[in-house]
Amino acid sequence: MRTVLVLGAYGFFGHRISAALASTASLGVLVGGRDLGRATAAARTMGLPVEHAVALDAHDSKLADVLRRLHVDVLIHTAGPFQGQDYSVARAAVEAGCHYIDLADGRQFVAGVGALSALASAAGVTVISGASSVPALSAAVIDRYLPKFGRLEAIRIGISSGARAPGLATVRGVFSYGGKRIRSWQDGAWVDAYGWLNLTRHRFPPPLGSRWLGSCDVPDLELFPERYPTVRTVTFQAGFASDLGHLVVWTLAGLVKAGILADMNTFASPLNRLSRWMEPIVSDKGGMFVKLEGEGKDGAPLRIDWNLIAEKNHGPHIPCGAAIALARKIGSGASLPRGAMPCVGLLTVDEFLEPLRDLSISEKVA
Ligand SMILES: NC(=O)c1ccc[n+]([C@@H]2O[C@H](COP(=O)([O-])OP(=O)(O)OC[C@H]3O[C@@H](n4cnc5c(N)ncnc54)[C@H](OP(=O)(O)O)[C@@H]3O)[C@@H](O)[C@H]2O)c1
Repeated sequence: MRTVLVLGAYGFFGHRISAALASTASLGVLVGGRDLGRATAAARTMGLPVEHAVALDAHDSKLADVLRRLHVDVLIHTAGPFQGQDYSVARAAVEAGCHYIDLADGRQFVAGVGALSALASAAGVTVISGASSVPALSAAVIDRYLPKFGRLEAIRIGISSGARAPGLATVRGVFSYGGKRIRSWQDGAWVDAYGWLNLTRHRFPPPLGSRWLGSCDVPDLELFPERYPTVRTVTFQAGFASDLGHLVVWTLAGLVKAGILADMNTFASPLNRLSRWMEPIVSDKGGMFVKLEGEGKDGAPLRIDWNLIAEKNHGPHIPCGAAIALARKIGSGASLPRGAMPCVGLLTVDEFLEPLRDLSISEKVA
């Protein structure tokens, strides 16, 4: 049996990942966070012995010793935000000889993780960053359809959440670039977009319908122009289930861009609380799209419009698919490439979605 320690295990996504892994026979799960009381309560709800709750700080300089003492085989790091974090947690995992998987959505954080590759290879472990909706699922969707294209020219990705508000780390992360410049690859050149601006109305397939979207800074914008060299445009936008909520975020981002506000950070916690209160009156549906445009093998124009639609507030399980699938792969004895890498090309769409198969989450392709 392999031991998986989830850091941030009673957080919004960490809890869902830990609960899924707790029911995996080949894995023993340790529930980690800074608050032992919350870790213990979470372990109980997952049917784990209370000794599986562990109080630890991700930024403890002795983290490697702790991981060794607990005989951890896989560390899953969900204690974001990752924007502005260094790689000390991944380094500690490598030092302790355990595999590392994180849910990072920080563009530079995920794109730069290869800097640890030599260290990880020498230690015989795998370090994976961005094991979540972006870039793991977005890249898996592109890779699935790439063979149909003679020339892939544009990748447009978007996510709209449902009512259930994510944890504070997610909100802090996505607010960190509100109103700030984002380098974006469009028509074969790097141009500027602005976080949560570039307001667009997007029509998802039924039953989701139309949602507001704004530009976000994600690893895909850095990774995909290089990974898919024929591509001339890569965009990523996201939005909220509540139109009003989205327009509030858009307004705050506009104030940052205009220099009236320094940043959106002070609004992360109050708006996160407000969105929790609003959950009962907001749509329980969320979705993701990946639109691919280019030429087919025959030279004719080809467009593929992939959508993932979640109902019954099951959307928050989607970002957890990659970490669950990868931990289960390791638990089953499958070998992953050694070294440090962004989470692209490691999972197929079906592998990513397998842990979510009993939920109200379905693909629609046009
Ligand atoms: N790449 C993607 O597509 C994607 C999608 C969704 C989410 N994410 C990422 O997932 C991450 C988690 O989001 P979330 O919504 O689950 O956040 P959350 O609910 O705030 O959970 C964060 C957890 O980390 C723990 N934590 C914070 N600082 C810690 C530290 N120094 N040491 C140990 N534990 C610590 C927190 O507990 P304590 O404070 O009590 O320790 C909490 O349990 C975010 O950073 C988000 O960006 C990525």
